[in-house]
Amino acid sequence: MKRHIVVGVTGASGSIYGYRLLEQLRSVKDLETHLILSRAAERTGFLELGKVAADWKALAGHSYPIEDIGCRLASGSFVTSAMVVAPCSIHTMSAIASGISSNLIVRAADVTLKERRRLILMVRETPLHLGHLRSMVALTEMGAVVAPPIPGFYYKPATVLELVDHSVHRVLDLLGLPSSNARRWDDLPGVESE
Ligand SMILES: Cc1cc2nc3c(=O)[nH]c(=O)nc-3n(C[C@H](O)[C@H](O)[C@H](O)COP(=O)(O)O)c2cc1C
Repeated sequence: MKRHIVVGVTGASGSIYGYRLLEQLRSVKDLETHLILSRAAERTGFLELGKVAADWKALAGHSYPIEDIGCRLASGSFVTSAMVVAPCSIHTMSAIASGISSNLIVRAADVTLKERRRLILMVRETPLHLGHLRSMVALTEMGAVVAPPIPGFYYKPATVLELVDHSVHRVLDLLGLPSSNARRWDDLPGVESE
């Protein structure tokens, strides 16, 4: 049976996280991706990567207009395994935390939570005020995984792509789809297992 993963991309900086996630999910067998791109994501995607909506859509199995709150992703009867918002803006995170389903990303995330499926939010903002932190607590209490893309430096990344992939690989782990290219603690020079 095919697995279905919803990928929401919002207008936080770090479009490359969503782009790399879609690229990596493409190579997973028996898996279909369902992309929702916000208007702000189209803007940051162009500013940061020079990509237009058609480039994003080419990476996904299916894509849906953000306004299409009547499509299958808006219903719990369409069975998905998980949803990732990468990157996730404070705007979208706050809307999900409050249940304000005013666009398809927020509605699909709300459906993911109500159906008790895995929701992973790669929230990107700093510094965080108390309201942001309270929303993160509320989301964690509701079952979401708040997973900001925070790079690790212990494996000595040499390129931006290596930094990005480190966070993307952690998300793939959370999806239960570990990548064979992921750098892991045991691979580090100087780390010995018993
Ligand atoms: C270049 C650029 C970078 C941005 N970076 C962030 C960011 O890192 N985090 C964030 O929460 N919003 C950021 N924003 C603002 C969001 O795009 C804005 O709040 C937008 O309304 C989010 O809408 P969306 O959640 O529907 O994508 C950025 C905007 C631009 C133009």
